[in-house]
This record gives sequence, structure tokens and C-alpha cells, in this order.
Amino acid sequence: MSFPFQIQSYKEYVSAYKKSVEEPDTFWNEIASHFLWRKQPTKTLQWNFIEPSVKWFEDGELNITENCIDRHLVDKADQTAIIWEPNDPAEKNRKISYQELHIEVCAMATVLRNHGIKKGDRVCIYMGMVPELAFAVLACARIGAIHSVIFGGFSAQSIADRIQDAGASAVITCDGAFRGGKDIPLKSLVDEALIHCTTVKKVFLHQRTGIPVVINEITDVFLDTEIKNIKEGGHIIYDAEAMKAEDPLFILYTSGSTGKPKGVVHSCAGYMIYTTYAFVNVFQYQPDHIHFCTADIGWVTGHSYILYGPLCAGVTTLMFEGIPTWPDAGRFWNIVDKYKVNVLYTAPTAIRSLMLAGTEPLKNKDLSSLKVLGTVGEPINEEAWHWYDENIGKKKCPIVDTWWQTETGGVLISNLAGITPARPTYATLPMPGVQPILVNDQGELIEENNVNGNLCIRFPWPSILRTTYGDHERCKQNYFSTYPGLYFTGDGAFRDENGFYRITGRVDDVLNVSGHRIGTAEVENAINMHPDVVESAVVGFPHDIKGQGIYAFVICDNELSEELDTIRKNIHDTVSKIIGPFAKPDKIQLVKGLPKTRSGKIMRRILRKIAEGALDNVGDTTTLLDPGVVEEIKKGRI
Ligand code: WT7
Repeated sequence: MSFPFQIQSYKEYVSAYKKSVEEPDTFWNEIASHFLWRKQPTKTLQWNFIEPSVKWFEDGELNITENCIDRHLVDKADQTAIIWEPNDPAEKNRKISYQELHIEVCAMATVLRNHGIKKGDRVCIYMGMVPELAFAVLACARIGAIHSVIFGGFSAQSIADRIQDAGASAVITCDGAFRGGKDIPLKSLVDEALIHCTTVKKVFLHQRTGIPVVINEITDVFLDTEIKNIKEGGHIIYDAEAMKAEDPLFILYTSGSTGKPKGVVHSCAGYMIYTTYAFVNVFQYQPDHIHFCTADIGWVTGHSYILYGPLCAGVTTLMFEGIPTWPDAGRFWNIVDKYKVNVLYTAPTAIRSLMLAGTEPLKNKDLSSLKVLGTVGEPINEEAWHWYDENIGKKKCPIVDTWWQTETGGVLISNLAGITPARPTYATLPMPGVQPILVNDQGELIEENNVNGNLCIRFPWPSILRTTYGDHERCKQNYFSTYPGLYFTGDGAFRDENGFYRITGRVDDVLNVSGHRIGTAEVENAINMHPDVVESAVVGFPHDIKGQGIYAFVICDNELSEELDTIRKNIHDTVSKIIGPFAKPDKIQLVKGLPKTRSGKIMRRILRKIAEGALDNVGDTTTLLDPGVVEEIKKGRI
């Protein structure tokens, strides 16, 4: 399979971009024609951003796994599809060819089918980074079940929320997950979550770590045994479900500025076509590339750029079970050398933490296989960019700074490796098919350059979210109502004299902590569950490694029943239990009052200034009900 739509020069980029704007239907039809369809679409795009309603290739039919796997069996059956590097470098790795992937996915799909899982059912997947996670995702897609992968760092409560919201009928999980020195008891967290969930009929268990688990005779299925039996008995069902282009492929929960996480829904065809198109162009795919995306499949980066994008393109994708700093800070570099990785795609937070480890872990590392480096998930600071360029890329590898979101499915703004220019800290230019604009707070279009604005997109690309699961109104409110007629990203951006975009960060109440997206409201709700807490306000502050840290201002009962340190610890435990350990506040300051307007609204702007240490620059406080609280909070700053 070749990809004639790979852009080869800056000139070609300019003409592809122009065509994508002037003749979007012709542009995307040509790209769609290079995929495998059960039924070729005759329609291209119907849309409005008011309802909103977006449909791409509506009457086409396909199965994404036939594009990821079956299509490659003709010419690359024996090529490695997935390299799996275990957490413990001493454990044996695994290499799964496209042929083997076909068997594994179809075998797991058969087990799911045998237990009554069918097209349209929601299946939650809560696993560590093991090959069986990839098989599970693809097995769901094979039979048309809608997968909802839950990152392994989420708590039982968060799992329960997601299962309930999706009305999932099955969960696929592991006994435990190895991450660095830890063995995380995934199955027991699922058991705890299921106490509150009535929709789940089956729990499929893959045994990875050997940690003891409680088995529920009614619901639990030993996945490994059943797969083995099916493979040995020879009754694998190889048929893939023919899916309509607009059928949902998956749900992925993500945080917003209000309330509980929302289930972003992606469609089958549009998602496949766009993520693959972006993969091929941004990373300048070559058929023999070894692609190492260090994300977790629990986040959208893992969905699109460990699994679907690379597999559709037919490269070898590397899945790593562990963490960058275990057993030491040289782990990524060992992996790069061990497998001769060509493309390394990671988060600025990982780069900063490895930068902090100094150059010692880089000693005797070759890294000469690397051709392209990428970053994703948060703004990259200039220092980290140069460190990555000099120490890892040896100034020979283009760095792509890819901006996108769970909601966008694939990369929307990025340079194309070696084809379009890079500029440190800039995501630079939009991909063909993507029409970003900046608007001011009144929603007016900003046409000039060298300005900041709110980043919106004014035309649909194929992998735009279709809805938020079970609540279309919420999708409309969140993304399409702030600036009617536009998709609002929630990000602020600066556009330079060349039209390059630099993402400056969220302008809503969403935090980005180590590349993890967390709503301030979610953290506040969790903190407020502590019995001594009366009220709280959470803001982000600049953090050297995490990008943003979490700063919580907390009002407690006058008569504290516990010591201060105990309260802090209990708040940490509460947040870990309600959301997950990664959402624990870095700083907790007890305060007597919060800066509120007369109408009772918390002035977060002031708290953000205090949290970042700009004590003399908190701005106007005259509209506050009690300006005195600001002085008190400033004094107590940690
Ligand atoms: C938010 C989306 C996209 C996969 C990972 C995160 C921030 C993402 C960049 C970048 C600056 C970035 C934005 C965005 N973000 N990529 N290259 N430069 N900021 O997905 O969890 O949906 O988070 O991450 O603020 O809105 P997500």
C-alpha cells in the first residue's frame, strides 16, 4: 500500500492546502479512495456547526481493522506490526507480525462475540500497556463494539463514572499493570467500580502480573484460556463487521471546564482517514519506519498514533509498557537503540524530566537511527526544545510540534517533518483541510498577524468529534456555542508574521498537568468531599517539569478536627480516590476566604496570579466583595 497523498515539498504543501480549502470534497475524496471500503461512498461532506452535525462519506461502509490489518496481509504479512517492550528490560519482548495480529485480533473478537458482545455495545477497556490492550481495542472495532479505553491511572470512582455514562455491557481488564516499580491492581479497581454499575454483564480478564484477584463466577471470563482454546480449536471468526462511515468507533472521556468528564465520540471513516493522513504527512512516513510513540493508549495520542494511524499506514509501531525514568533515565534511549527507532514522539513533560537527569543517561547511547522527533500534549518551552534537538536529534532530526486534542482525533496544526519549516515553541501551520482562525473575546475575527486570540476552527475536518456520548446538547454548549458557527478549541494562540501558530495554553478552566488534561471543577469537587472542607478553588501554576502544577486554595471548618498536615494528606487521598493519583494538588493552602465578586463568582484570575507568585500584579480587586481576603491569601502563599 502506498500513500500517494504524502506531501513531498513545501510547494506541494501549499498547493494541497489551497485545494483542501477551495475544493474540500474533491480533496478528501481522492484521499479516501486510497483506503479499503466495503462500499465506496458516493457522498462526501454534509455539515453545519450550529446543531452541530457533521457527516463524512455517509453512505460508505468499511471496517477500520481491515485497513489496519487485512489490507497488509498481501504484501507485509510477516512484517512486525507491533513491537512490545516490557516494563522490566530483563523480561522477553514480543514482536507481533501483521499476520499474527490478524489472528490475535480475530481470536479475541471471536471470544467477545461468543459472549454476546455485538455491534453498538459499549466496552470499557482498563488495561496496562500490553499487546492484549491493542488486540482488545482492535477486536472491539472488528465486531463494531464501541470501545472506551480508560487510562490505567484512573480511580475506581472514575471507572464507574465512565462505565455508567457509556452504559457499558462489558469491561476488558488485566489482573494488574507493571509501571516502573509498581504493580497496579487493575482488576480489584474494576471490582470496586462495578459495585455501582448494573449494566456490565461480562468482565474479560487478561492475566499479566499474577497479582491475586477475586473471581466473580457470574461475570468474569478468563480471556487467555478462551483465546487459547479458540486458536487451538480452529474456530476463529475472521469476518469483520461492515460499519457505516458515521457509526461510532470509540468514546474517549476527557475533562472540560465544568462537571464530569465528557465522552468524546469519534466516527469510523472520518477518524481513520484523517488520523492516517496526518500520520503519513506529519511524520513523513516511510514503509520501513519503526515508530515509537511514548503515550499511553488510554489517551487519544495512543489511539491515533500508537494504534490506528501507524497500523493503517502499515509501519512497525512500538508499544512500551513502562515509564521513561525506570529503571533509570536512560530507558527511552536504550529502547531507541535496541530497536533502531526512526520516529520518536513524546511529551514535553517527559523531555523536561529527562533533561533534568542530565547527560549521564545519554552516555554510550547511539541514537543514530532517529530521523524524526515529535512533541505533543502541551506547549514546549524553548529550553526543552533545544535540549531535544541537540542531545537527542543531534541537530539532524526535524522536530514536529503537533497541536491537537481528544476532540480533533488527529493532528491539526504541525510542521511536516523536513518539509515545512519548524520554529521552536510553534506548532506552525495548519494541516491541509484545517482552517484555524483567531477571534477576540467578542468573537470577532482577527485578521492581522502578530496577535493573540482564541483559537477556533471554521470548517470541519474528517475526524472532528461527532457528539459527546448521550448528551449532544453538551457537545453544542462546550464547543460550538461560545462563538456560534465555529468550533472553539479552548486554547489561546499567538500568530506570528508568517502565519505560524504558537499555542499559549488553555483559556478555559482546564489544566494540563504533565500532558494530562484535568478540569479545575473536577479537582474542586473531589477536594470538597473531604468532611472538613467548606469550599475550594483550584488553579494552575507554572511547574518546571509538569508544565502546570495544581494549586488548591481551601477553606476548612473553623474548628479543625485534624492537624494541618493530616488534612493535606487526606485531601490528597480523597483526590486520588475520586479521580486518580495524577490529579493530586501540588500545593494546598488553607485560607479563610476566597476572592469573590458580589455575585459570588470566584475571581480565579487573582488566584492564578498569587499561585504563580505575581503578588504585586494581581490586578483590580475593587469589584470584590471583600478585597481584604486577597492580602490574607498573599501572606499565606506557599
Ligand atoms: C490540549 C488537548 C492531543 C493529544 C494530547 C492531548 C494541549 C496539545 C499541544 C501542543 C501546545 C498542546 C492544548 C489542547 N496541547 N498539543 N503541541 N502545543 N499545547 O490531548 O488531553 O485532549 O489535550 O492539550 O491545550 O487543547 P488532550
